Amino acid sequence: MRIILIGFMGVGKTSVGRLLSKKLEFDFIDMDLEIEKSQKLSISEIFNIYSESYFRNLEKNLLKDLLKKDNLVISTGGGVVASKENIEILKGEENVIFLDAREETIIKNVSNDSNKRPLLEKDLESSIHKLLKYRYENYIKCCNYIVNVDFKNIEDIVKIIESEVL
Ligand code: S3P
Repeated sequence: MRIILIGFMGVGKTSVGRLLSKKLEFDFIDMDLEIEKSQKLSISEIFNIYSESYFRNLEKNLLKDLLKKDNLVISTGGGVVASKENIEILKGEENVIFLDAREETIIKNVSNDSNKRPLLEKDLESSIHKLLKYRYENYIKCCNYIVNVDFKNIEDIVKIIESEVL
């Protein structure tokens, strides 16, 4: 079994994935961390030194590799649904969980470390609004389950996944 967490920046994909994997005794891969390790660069450095499309290519190749593995929880980056090819790949998976949140929740969660997220410009609210508007239907297209994370802590979200999805 493979569980794939998708959703916008700041919805808690990494923390939820890590805790869920512990409970299930599955391996855990956070795609951004994996890319940073393999490139020996931070995500921002990859965007700045190379480009977004360079990063997207690494992301796409990593996703394909990970989907060959089993007993794994995967936390994707928020932009994994920016690629049509990734959307098609994810549609073929059984346990794609969309962590959904209101814009207010996302703004609150990313405001402390928006400098780690190269796509968020100085006007945080409007860049989140624009990106989310364009991506929302892609998250919906790819997922088998939607879990709303507003006002919930990581434990609560994992419990919902365990009871409703697994
Ligand atoms: C991105 C989200 C980030 C990271 C990169 C691009 C995006 O991951 O992959 O900065 O396009 O939404 P998180 O969702 O883990 O912040």
